[in-house]
Amino acid sequence: MQMTIKVKVENLTKIFGRSPKAVLKKVQEGMSKEEVLKKTGHTLGINNVSFEVKEGEIFVIMGLSGSGKSTLIRCLNLLNVPTDGKIYVDGENIVAYDKHQLREYRQKKVAMVFQHFGLFTHRTVIKNVEYGLEVRNIPPGKRYEIARKVLATVGLEGWEFKYPTQLSGGMQQRVGLARALANDPDILLMDEPFSALDPLIRREMQLELLDMQAKLKKTIIFITHDVNEAFKLGDRVAMMRDGKIEQIGTPEEIFSTPANEYIENFVKDIDKTKIIQAKNIMFKPAALISLKDGLNVAAKEMERNGISSVFVVDSERRLLGLVTIDDTVKAIKEHKTLIDILRHEYNTTGPETYIQDLLPIATESKYPIAVVDENNKFLGIIVRVSVLSALI
Ligand SMILES: Nc1ncnc2c1ncn2[C@@H]1O[C@H](COP(=O)(O)OP(=O)(O)O)[C@@H](O)[C@H]1O
Ligand SMILES: [Mg+2]
Repeated sequence: MQMTIKVKVENLTKIFGRSPKAVLKKVQEGMSKEEVLKKTGHTLGINNVSFEVKEGEIFVIMGLSGSGKSTLIRCLNLLNVPTDGKIYVDGENIVAYDKHQLREYRQKKVAMVFQHFGLFTHRTVIKNVEYGLEVRNIPPGKRYEIARKVLATVGLEGWEFKYPTQLSGGMQQRVGLARALANDPDILLMDEPFSALDPLIRREMQLELLDMQAKLKKTIIFITHDVNEAFKLGDRVAMMRDGKIEQIGTPEEIFSTPANEYIENFVKDIDKTKIIQAKNIMFKPAALISLKDGLNVAAKEMERNGISSVFVVDSERRLLGLVTIDDTVKAIKEHKTLIDILRHEYNTTGPETYIQDLLPIATESKYPIAVVDENNKFLGIIVRVSVLSALI
């Protein structure tokens, strides 16, 4: 993953009410959201939030309803004007943009997908997708061509001339997504885009988003109140509560070291099989044999470590096979070589495989699972008990 910082938010605060600037000082002095409301009638939407989003990552903001997620994401395209703080996009503080710069920014760099789709019901599907291009005065032929292409990307070929109300919820949100993609923005802001969909459709859309992202590599800021969705989609997740970010980390980090009790309570509900990956539970085997080591070394290593099989690699650590102790002893007697008795009836997996997919393999396999990278380089092994104990 690229390490370029695409978005950098610094000490961002948003207060709703008549004179937010006047209330800001009290907030900075530590007045709570509750007190602010009671004493000043203002609502503290977000409170001194800072974070960075890397180019090409899916950054998820997760929190309960009312925690300030929408307020925050709407600051990122200045639908909400921050009360205080800075938002750098590609190094430029967008809060300081003039009208013209802001228009450019909204038309070209950023696009938003809304929870309730926000489609124009009187426009056809394709006319919805063309909207942003129309605003930019792209000629009709050109925008039609772009819109058709984008609709195909989201699987809506053939639906161009229907109206939104003729489409299911899932399909309407595909239109919402296509409309956002039409301007080819660097940054996609998605405010609970799947929350209004049925669970099945929702899961389908989540997978498609991941597929699409693998190809398009946008910078995505995705909001959800569903912790499983957050951990499934997010490269990193920010956990929000009462307008503050309580913790930022990869799903695995938050899962294994929750910052406080509040977060801990959240991650309790998580389905671990969808977060923990092979690389999190694999380990270096007690012994690993190189082809040049030969049969005697293999036999000794297995004996010494009390194991009945061992993986064999070449000089570049690429996985060649596995030998068992029985085969090895027999081969020594029969003057065979290591290569003659290599077995291949074990399972391999990549480091990113979720244990959800490892479980069925782990329970049926006789030998440890070998974890290899895309070049078949040996990374580690996984035994059944590590898969099972990861679930506790
Ligand atoms: N336009 C607004 N005017 C006043 N208060 C608002 C406005 N928008 C949001 N809020 C308040 O800000 C807080 C955060 O709301 P919101 O960002 O919508 O939360 P979430 O998206 O996490 O459900 C809530 O207390 C909400 O009532
Ligand atoms: Mg919201």
